Amino acid sequence: MAQSPFAAPSRPARQLLHREAYFEAEWLAREETELFGRAWSFACMTDDLAGPGDYVTVKVGDWPLVILRDKGGALRAFHNVCRHRGMQVVEGCGNAAKGLTCPYHWWTYELDGALRGMPKREALFADLDLSTIALKPASVGVIDRLVFVCPDATPPDGFETFKADLEEHLWPHDVAKLEETASGRYRIACNSKLFAENAMDGYHLAYLHDRTLMGPDAEWQTWKAAGRHWVWYGPGESEGRRNSTMKRIPESDPDAPGPRVWWFFPTSGVIATGVFWSVFWLVPDGPQSCFLDTRTWIMPDQAEAMKAYEDLFPASRHRRDGSPDAIALDQLDVHPMETLDFQIEDMWVVERLQESLRSPAFEVGPLSLDTEASLTHFQRSILDYVPAGGRGMKAAAE
Ligand code: FES
Ligand SMILES: [Fe+2]
Repeated sequence: MAQSPFAAPSRPARQLLHREAYFEAEWLAREETELFGRAWSFACMTDDLAGPGDYVTVKVGDWPLVILRDKGGALRAFHNVCRHRGMQVVEGCGNAAKGLTCPYHWWTYELDGALRGMPKREALFADLDLSTIALKPASVGVIDRLVFVCPDATPPDGFETFKADLEEHLWPHDVAKLEETASGRYRIACNSKLFAENAMDGYHLAYLHDRTLMGPDAEWQTWKAAGRHWVWYGPGESEGRRNSTMKRIPESDPDAPGPRVWWFFPTSGVIATGVFWSVFWLVPDGPQSCFLDTRTWIMPDQAEAMKAYEDLFPASRHRRDGSPDAIALDQLDVHPMETLDFQIEDMWVVERLQESLRSPAFEVGPLSLDTEASLTHFQRSILDYVPAGGRGMKAAAE
């Protein structure tokens, strides 16, 4: 039998978070402020903010934010909360080259956040010094073409650290030469941490996904901690992908051992193979509910691109109503394991797991050396941001 390219596993694994961290409203309330309010979340691609005035809005935890390109070409992020009465100044995405005008009473802001003025200023705000009011700044940073935001103007983990931790591991793909093919939204009845941990668990690949991803077995994979992030290495691509009719991305070598999945702490990541490059991110929507969003790029000019994409994520064929809304398990006309879509297989597991967690009989048993140490790594960072033992919180296992 061929020798595995990866070193023998040695990292011990243990569950650090108490089960209540996965369903208690108090935990999520603290995460909104202490984790999502201070960590880096994926927002959009630089291509979405190509010219001056282009903006994208996102909501990170409890924080509505706007990211824009200013007149000098720099990216800026602000709290999308009007300094008058708090209306969200802009929504969706678009261009505000002439300034950001709040729809409620038409206060208008420059692209650097400064308040330019409002209607009837002389009559209604005679004493107001405009220079004392501006949109509150948030933080923004870019890795390759990925734009990240943080609601905190001075995040505890600065963007240079966030980026430096990943730099030596980045994908070889030149995303600028690829074409965006499709986006997906999944509604998942689980705590977002549960889905994140599933994404970091390489142990299940050969078993839960035996008909879709078909491994690799644990000894043929490894992962590396990159600061708080996590990078997963596989031995090469599965049979199915190697035989795919999709065009090969030239910079990538699908058969070489190398990084395949990048997890950016705490909620986003990239999956890259020889035929596609995909970004995914989680949007918590309650203690036991979240959305998974994905955007995917492939080689351009593939007439069969959409069909090829469906081959990768075939759940759409099994949606009863053909609705364009988020894909959810209750929309499927077959059992999730019959969709032959690895994303749906994962959703099925984490939703069942979410139910088990509520049982007083639930406890985490022995975890596998190394492959499940990725969960320990993730949970340690969660506890750095949200230390256990606060008001209304059960102590963590450690
Ligand atoms: S709330 Fe924005 S102008 Fe009044
Ligand atoms: Fe999975």
